[in-house]
Amino acid sequence: MNRLPHGYTNESELSDEGSVVKRYIGRGAEERARTEAHCLRALCQLLPVPKVVSSDVASLTISYVEGTHGQDLIGEGQAEEVFFAAGRMLRRIHEIGLKLTLAGEGDTLVHGDFGPQNLLFSDDARHVVAVLDWEWAHYGSAVEDLAWAEWIVRMHHPNDVGALPALFDAYGFRPAWHQRKQSMIDRCVQLQSFDPVQRGGSTGHALWQQRSSITRAWDALPDDPVNT
Ligand SMILES: Nc1ncnc2c1ncn2[C@@H]1O[C@H](COP(=O)(O)OP(=O)(O)O)[C@@H](O)[C@H]1O
Ligand SMILES: [Mg+2]
Repeated sequence: MNRLPHGYTNESELSDEGSVVKRYIGRGAEERARTEAHCLRALCQLLPVPKVVSSDVASLTISYVEGTHGQDLIGEGQAEEVFFAAGRMLRRIHEIGLKLTLAGEGDTLVHGDFGPQNLLFSDDARHVVAVLDWEWAHYGSAVEDLAWAEWIVRMHHPNDVGALPALFDAYGFRPAWHQRKQSMIDRCVQLQSFDPVQRGGSTGHALWQQRSSITRAWDALPDDPVNT
């Protein structure tokens, strides 16, 4: 089996049969496996998602989707296209009429780890061909996914922050900065107690504590309205 790139939490490998085998690591692994399997099965007619081949207690086998990873496209200078296509896809996700069996309160189906890190695209970056990694899906508020996509870009692609308005333009709404920032901080704090040992050796708790502090120091984007 060959380990796939761009995995942050779990172990995803390409099997000899050409499928992707994802093994869930860390706290709540079984529940996250169930959540992702349920979402992929329920959404396969409505959104571009991998097909479920089989599911097990803490692993999932899904079809391999040919596409270019969002973070690779950002690295190649296509941030604007990536963010625009991501914003359009997020609007589709949030407007899904289907009721899934997921935790949480609120009217909106929240992907829970939305951003270029979990999207595959056509080579020209104009179309999302797969929305991956549904293990954190729940019902909640739209700001969670918008804020998290912004957080990923600000944390991992600081040179491309200037293209972020394309995300909100394509989505059709930009929540106020204080709401986005609070949502980012809340997520970083939640991830402090999700504590698998990081591959680099330091614990997840220390890493997310540091990231919470960095996020708390961020200011609004240059084109956010003043006092939001
Ligand atoms: N069905 C798939 N087809 C193609 N690549 C995939 C597929 N599933 C996962 N990948 C690749 O593996 C990476 C990790 O998978 P993901 O579900 O995001 O795991 P993690 O929870 O560890 O981030 C993805 O970012 C993508 O690069
Ligand atoms: Mg992922």
